[in-house]
Order: sequence, then C-alpha cells, then structure tokens
Amino acid sequence: MNQLFAKKPLKQLLDEMEGDNRLKRVLGPISLIAMGIGAIIGTGIFVLTGLAARNYAGPGLIMSFVIAGLACFFAALCYAEFASMAPVAGSAYTYAYTTLGELAAWIIGWDLVLEYAMGSATVANGWSHYLLKFLALFKSSKTAEVLITIPLWLTMDPFTAAGQHLDYRTASVLTVQSAEGELAGRPRWQLPISAAEGVLRVDLVRVTFTAASIAQALEFDPTQESVKRVQHQLEEGLKFEPGRPPAEKLQAVRDGFHDGYSAFEATPLVVGGLHLTVNVLAILIVAVISAILVLGIRESAGFNAAMVLVKIAAVLFVIIAGAGYVDARNWSPFLPYGWSGVMGAAGVIFFAYIGFDSISTQAEEARNPKRDVPLGIIGSLLICTVLYILVTAVVTGMTPYPEIPLDAPIAGVFESKHLGAASAIITVGALTGITSVLLVMLLSQPRVLLAMARDGLLPVGFFGAVHPRFKTPHKSTILTGFLSAMTASLLPLEALGHMVSIGTLFAFSVVCTAVWIMRFTHPEQERPFRAPALHLVAPLGIAFCAAIMYSLGVVNWLRLFGWLAIGLVIYFGYGKRNSRLWKQLQEQARVG
Ligand code: ALA
Repeated sequence: MNQLFAKKPLKQLLDEMEGDNRLKRVLGPISLIAMGIGAIIGTGIFVLTGLAARNYAGPGLIMSFVIAGLACFFAALCYAEFASMAPVAGSAYTYAYTTLGELAAWIIGWDLVLEYAMGSATVANGWSHYLLKFLALFKSSKTAEVLITIPLWLTMDPFTAAGQHLDYRTASVLTVQSAEGELAGRPRWQLPISAAEGVLRVDLVRVTFTAASIAQALEFDPTQESVKRVQHQLEEGLKFEPGRPPAEKLQAVRDGFHDGYSAFEATPLVVGGLHLTVNVLAILIVAVISAILVLGIRESAGFNAAMVLVKIAAVLFVIIAGAGYVDARNWSPFLPYGWSGVMGAAGVIFFAYIGFDSISTQAEEARNPKRDVPLGIIGSLLICTVLYILVTAVVTGMTPYPEIPLDAPIAGVFESKHLGAASAIITVGALTGITSVLLVMLLSQPRVLLAMARDGLLPVGFFGAVHPRFKTPHKSTILTGFLSAMTASLLPLEALGHMVSIGTLFAFSVVCTAVWIMRFTHPEQERPFRAPALHLVAPLGIAFCAAIMYSLGVVNWLRLFGWLAIGLVIYFGYGKRNSRLWKQLQEQARVG
C-alpha cells in the first residue's frame, strides 16, 4: 500500500472524537450562523470592493459577486455534506485525509495555512486602512486639524510606496498632447455638459502624451508600465468628467499617488537603495488579537454575536442610507471592462466570501453538528451574498466607478457625498467587523495546525503544545501571529488577497472532489445532510472555482505552485516520516 494515498478511516475519526479532550458542545444554529457571518464580512467587502470596481469590473462587480457567490454556494453544499458526516475539528484537511489520502490531506492543510495565516495578513492590512480613516475623524475643534497623525512611512507596505512613488513622478512629468472621446470626434473636454444631465460620460476616451514627456518618464521607468498605469487612470477618470480639462485631471491622478510618494521619500529605513516602509498598524492589530487568543479569552459566542450585530448594522446602514443617493446612470456602462473584467473582479472579491468554511472547524463544538453545521455554513453564506450584492449595487450607483476610492472605499464613497457622519458610522462598523474576521482566522489556524500535528504531520511538541495555565495552543498562535504580522506589514493588499483567494479556491475544488468521490467510495455512510443533486453540484463547484482561478492569472498560479512546492518539501522532509496513520497501518500489517 502506498503511504501517499493512505486514508484515515472515517470510523477512526469519529472514535478520536470520543476521547476526553473533546471540546464542549455548546453552539446552536444561530450561534453558528453568527460565527459564519463573523468570519465572512470584513476586508473583502469593506476594502477590496473599491479596487475590484475601479480597476476590474465597474458596476459589473454586481455580477462578480453573483458568480463568486455561486462558486461558494456549490462548495458550501459539499462542505455541509462532509461536515455532517465527519463532525470533527480540522476542516477540509480532515475531510481530505479520509477520502483522498495523506498527501492530498497535507496539501490541503498547507493550503489552509495560506487561507488562514495569509488571510489574516490580508485582513489586518485592510483593517489598517479603516483605522487611518477612523483616526482622521478626530479633529481639533479650533483649527480642524487632525489630532492624531502617524508618519506615512509607518502606514504602508514598501511595494505600495515604491509603486506610488514611481507613478507620482511619472504623472508629474507627463503632459497631455491630446484627449479624445470617440463619440463625436471632438476632444471630450470641449463637450458641453448640460446641468440637467449631471453625470455625462462618453464610452471611449483616448489620451496621448507628448513624446518629450514620455521620454522624460522613461528615465525612471524604462518599461513604460508606469506611463500605462497613469494613462489608464486618466482615461477612466475623463470618461465621467468629459468637461474637465485633461491637464487638471492628470494633476488629480498624480495627487492620488502623493501619500506613497511621501512615505517613500520620508522613510529612514533605506537599505541598499531599497526604501522600506512598514505598515505598523497591521502589526499592531495582529499582535493584540494574538495576545488575546494566547491568554485564552477565547472568542466567546456572546462577544462574537455583539461584533456581528455591529457589522450587520453597518452593512444595512450602507444599503439603506446609500440607496437614496444612487444615480442609475452610474450603472451605465454596466460592463466597462466586459466579461473578462467581471471574472477578474470575481477573483479579487472572492476573498469577501472566505470564512464560511471556518464553521467546519467549529463542528466539534456544535450541539447538533449534523443538522446545525450545514445550516450555519449555508445560512451565513446566503445572508452575506444578499448583503454583498446590495452593497455593491449601492456603492457603484452612488459614484462613477473610476472615482471610487481604493483605501476605505465604502466609507470613502459616503465622504465624497459630504456625508461625514454616515462615513464615520461605517468606519466604526467596518473596524469592528474586520476585527471579528481576524479573530476567527487567527483562531482557526492553530486548530488546523493542531489537527495536523496530532496526525504526526507536523512536530507535535511545537504545534500540539498547550499552555499549562491558559490552556491554549500558545506556540502555534504566536507563530501564526508573527508570520501574519510580518506579511501584512510588508506586502500589498492586492497581491495578498489574490494569493489567498487562489489558495482557497483550490481548497474548495478539492473539497467538492472529495465529497463527490465519497458518494462512490462510501455510499453506505450515513449522511445527515445530503447535498442536493451532488452529481451536478460538485462538478459545477469545481468548474466555477477553476474559472475564477483561471481569471487570477499566471502570476498567481505560479505563487500557488511555489507555495505548494514549499509544502511538499516539508511533507517529504518531515510529515511522511512521522505520520501516525502510516505507523499504525504498518503495525496492523505486521500483527495481521
Ligand atoms: N471574508 C473575509 C473578509 O472579507 C476573509 O475579510
């Protein structure tokens, strides 16, 4: 028998659950749904929406949320079936161990590190944007100056700073030669705007720069990528403001890069020509939450429920307060970047849905896991899908998509309508909401690592260590926190989010495959929750996940392969030699 395909018998899983150190079964269906929502609504909707709408899909982002929601729905049905069959902690890792074998289980477990630890980094990064918005709320009543300021170089990662530094300089030297709308064959800024129309746009705007200015820009960007980025932003912006002189708009585009430019210039950490800026706010929140988790003031269901209520209130507030400011003309063109843009955005905002699967890591604590875990997974996902679609419709309806801010977009859109109080309410709701996601993710990671360590695939002395007084997996919690904090402070949000999304999509497709296979290999196994039409749902889940993964592009595939390759080195270097299951099977073979 080959170890790589050795499967943990389902019965053994259930037997392991009977031991003394089982977690208490305290969670009912409402708590589980609340936990799901607690894990789902966060950086994705509050932060990544801006990027996805502005740079990928425009108002078509609504469709992206539908598509990513469908992918999750199919995966959720599969998750639910499996969770009801094997109500133990460990999530997709455990499921894969019983169906696909040890190697696949390891790959999934390693992939879940990407989802939870790197996910935490992404969420913490998003949190920092809202913290800055929050701090900006406190102004001197006399001078209206912001009271608490943090040096810019301590608020962003070095890649973002370097990128903005470059684009700022590019935008500073470029001069517009011509800017044409293609509709009337006239320069668009000469088009009259009738007041009644309010929002006037043209479908196509082409901007060209003078050759001399491009030559100047090439001195610091020989690849011309930066010129293309500035050009793109300028063209998008002019679509909605055809009456504005392009030179003025170019200056506005340039000003948008100013923070990164200043951070880059101001940082004292210059090593070998690299200007290191650091997002210390992201480090701060990860450190605080990790400390709370080590001390074992564990995410109590009550505390979680309170945070969930705050964030649902904030999301409903966005929908209700924003609805009155929707101008349907902002939804046209609906698909400015076509369907490829919609799919690209689906890859970006897929991150917003991540988290419902973490309920499966709580299965061990559910009172009636066979019924309530499927309910929790599917219920929380459906509620969030509806809320997301409505929020996206409102936000893209309130502002032309090129004007949606990137940093804290939901609050920012309200601010741009001079709705300061509403923006403040949303900022507080977002901060609370994102914090609760971080709590679940930083809590889930050590549990998955614990399950892997118990199986011998990771050193149990470290990952299985429980603090004598606090009774928490302190070592793996601290390690998870450390890695998340470092990643959050040094890598850009977009790249992090993509990496986490592709990893999670991969895990979801494996779960769909596993559950499908189980129907053939274990038809007799009791299935308290049977996914309806599984022979359709599972392949659809795989297909939707694959399509979104495809849209994330080759760079992210390479990153995923790189990540998995590191995992394989660890497995063959450690896990394969120390697998408890394999030792047991060999023992049985000897005795038998
Ligand atoms: N879905 C979670 C979020 O958006 C991970 O923050």
